[in-house]
Amino acid sequence: MNVNPDGARPAVVRTRNLVKDLPLGSGIVHILRGISLDIYRGERVGIVGPSGSGKSTLLGLIGGLDSATSGTIEIDGIDITRLSESKLTEVRNEKIGFVFQFFNLIPTLTALENVALPIEFARKPKFNPRKRAKELLELLGMKDRLNHRPSQLSGGQQQRVAIARALANNPPLLLADEPTGNLDTESGKLVLETLQDVQRATGTTIVVVTHDPSIATAMERVLTLVDGQLVDGKVPDRTEAVPV
Ligand SMILES: Nc1ncnc2c1ncn2[C@@H]1O[C@H](COP(=O)(O)OP(=O)(O)OP(=O)(O)O)[C@@H](O)[C@H]1O
Ligand SMILES: [Mg+2]
Repeated sequence: MNVNPDGARPAVVRTRNLVKDLPLGSGIVHILRGISLDIYRGERVGIVGPSGSGKSTLLGLIGGLDSATSGTIEIDGIDITRLSESKLTEVRNEKIGFVFQFFNLIPTLTALENVALPIEFARKPKFNPRKRAKELLELLGMKDRLNHRPSQLSGGQQQRVAIARALANNPPLLLADEPTGNLDTESGKLVLETLQDVQRATGTTIVVVTHDPSIATAMERVLTLVDGQLVDGKVPDRTEAVPV
């Protein structure tokens, strides 16, 4: 298990020299240029940066949704860059919950069924699917909406179902890409409070990619990406004159 220098919290996410290149036309685009970071158990971390800086790409790699060109990614001590597809699916299902900007709920299933699904898919289910789904939806204030389909819910409510689904298998890591990006301010605030409550209640590590300054300030630590690299402090103002 990874332990940080003062021996306190184990690293849930550890990347080293993570590179993502993609072919474009006859050349290559360098999307991530060597990202090394540690995120410790129970932390709430924000990732910010200009559009196109590589935030979603980084989150997708950490979550095992996409593969890196080079470098390593450890999740809870397991190097996911070296796993077979079936083992990776298993690690993803057990260790990682995802929340997306557009909710990605299954439209034909009720809230309860959406949340129960990842438990039914788990190779060794840790919970009774319907019982756990009900408890989580209650925790997220959705007790009266268990049998609603996504189209019968507001955006904020759909996002709370998506958060419940992400927590279904009690993962050590919750990744969210612009979770309030498609919501009005009030619903966004509720979703943010929900994420914070969840973290207090479960101790899950939360990593949130966001453009929303109120989310960023609610995080314990904020990482800034510019042009595929982590930078310290503020994002450079591109309107400033470049020294020659
Ligand atoms: N399939 C692809 N082929 C070529 N380039 C791509 C591909 N997917 C993404 N990119 C490029 O990778 C860069 C990073 O994209 P990414 O989606 O990670 O940015 P982002 O920081 O999440 O941006 P946003 O804030 O707009 O969501 C962008 O410049 C994008 O154009
Ligand atoms: Mg993005």
